[in-house]
Amino acid sequence: MLISREQIAHRVAELATQITNDFAGQPVILVGVLKGAAIFLSDLARAVRLDTTFDFIGTGSYGSQDTSPSGVGKGGWDSTGAVRLTKDVEQSLAGKNVLLVEDILDKGLTLSYLKNMLLAHRPKTLRTVALLDKPSRRVTPVEADYVGFTIPDRFVVGYGMDYAERYRNLPDICVLSGDGDLESTSTVPGH
Ligand code: IMP
Ligand code: MG
Repeated sequence: MLISREQIAHRVAELATQITNDFAGQPVILVGVLKGAAIFLSDLARAVRLDTTFDFIGTGSYGSQDTSPSGVGKGGWDSTGAVRLTKDVEQSLAGKNVLLVEDILDKGLTLSYLKNMLLAHRPKTLRTVALLDKPSRRVTPVEADYVGFTIPDRFVVGYGMDYAERYRNLPDICVLSGDGDLESTSTVPGH
């Protein structure tokens, strides 16, 4: 386990207070990046004291689709190439306050792609929040306006984040070992 559910809840409440103050009573559209940000968005949305609506956007990559356990660190998520849109927003964002909600900022390819895409809608304001940030992995220079936790270069799962679609429902954020198993499970007696 890297970040406990209690630590997450505490930090999400702090982010929500900051966001509530910064948007100062104005309505805001929360745009979640599927699927990893779904749980973060649902917790954040309930802690923010603003008039909000939701939308969701989906991305994929043109990189390797190797999702075998030996592909940890290479396939599955470690895309080499361009980002592609798999689901667009369902409303015009023109003139609106938009908060893009992302699970984790890694190489920065996804966030920079999505920022440019959303800016083309000509929103009134565009801000971004990432629950996690791995700055040591950055390839494209981009930062989120709000960051929950800065973490080292480890592959994490839980609280919405997956490895090959698994582990999204773990309540805590955990580190995945090189063989695709949860590191913590191998240390649990009787497992
Ligand atoms: P980026 O374009 O490299 O910044 O990729 C960001 C996306 O990669 C995130 O939205 C996640 O979907 C995925 N990702 C990056 N690192 C991790 C991780 O440690 N666990 C799970 N997904 C990750
Ligand atoms: Mg994601």
